[in-house]
Amino acid sequence: MKIFIDSADVDKIKEAYSWGIIDGVTTNPSHVAKTGRKHLEVYREICDLVDGPISLETITLTAPEIAAEGRALAKMHKNVVVKVPLLREGLKAVKILTAEGIKTNVTVTFSPLQALLAAKCGATYISPFVGRLDAAGHVGMDCVRQIRTIYDNYDYKTLILTAAVRHPLHVLEAALAGSDVITMGFDVLEQLYYHPMTDLGIDIFLKDWAKVPKP
Ligand code: E4P
Repeated sequence: MKIFIDSADVDKIKEAYSWGIIDGVTTNPSHVAKTGRKHLEVYREICDLVDGPISLETITLTAPEIAAEGRALAKMHKNVVVKVPLLREGLKAVKILTAEGIKTNVTVTFSPLQALLAAKCGATYISPFVGRLDAAGHVGMDCVRQIRTIYDNYDYKTLILTAAVRHPLHVLEAALAGSDVITMGFDVLEQLYYHPMTDLGIDIFLKDWAKVPKP
């Protein structure tokens, strides 16, 4: 399972990347806005830092505009994946970009049927937003499970990228559901390391070690 960090904060990305568990990065307009920095500057730094797929999002709403934006983003670096919203125009752009050999990540996805359409247009990744579905009273992970079934039924190669992850249980459920990738914020990544019994176990070992006669 690939793990991506969902952020545009270069310091946080750098720190998480140094842990050896990060395979790629997803950004979005909200993450970029939070940095208070110019987007191209941020994108260049992330591309220089991480050797893996880096999703950069388009912000236009018609297929020709999205395709043009996507081409410009893809030119920045070989690892760029063009993030496109799940609109009819967005999927038209995905089809165009895919035909040109440009990788895409279809985002803001909330249903398995939307994911089916994205796969038909050749999307490289599909990003179901599980946390936002949960917040709307649905079981977000059901969307991931249903997409997995549909893609396996018809052998679609589009990779499932579970997104809008809020806590470690989402990570566990996505892994059990066969999500190809999961993207999460720095705080959830940190939480994955923690278990109170690990701390307690280490404490016991160190206390016992102190009793071992020293040479
Ligand atoms: C995924 O690629 C998105 O950037 C992200 O997960 C959006 O979710 P959120 O803003 O609800 O956390």
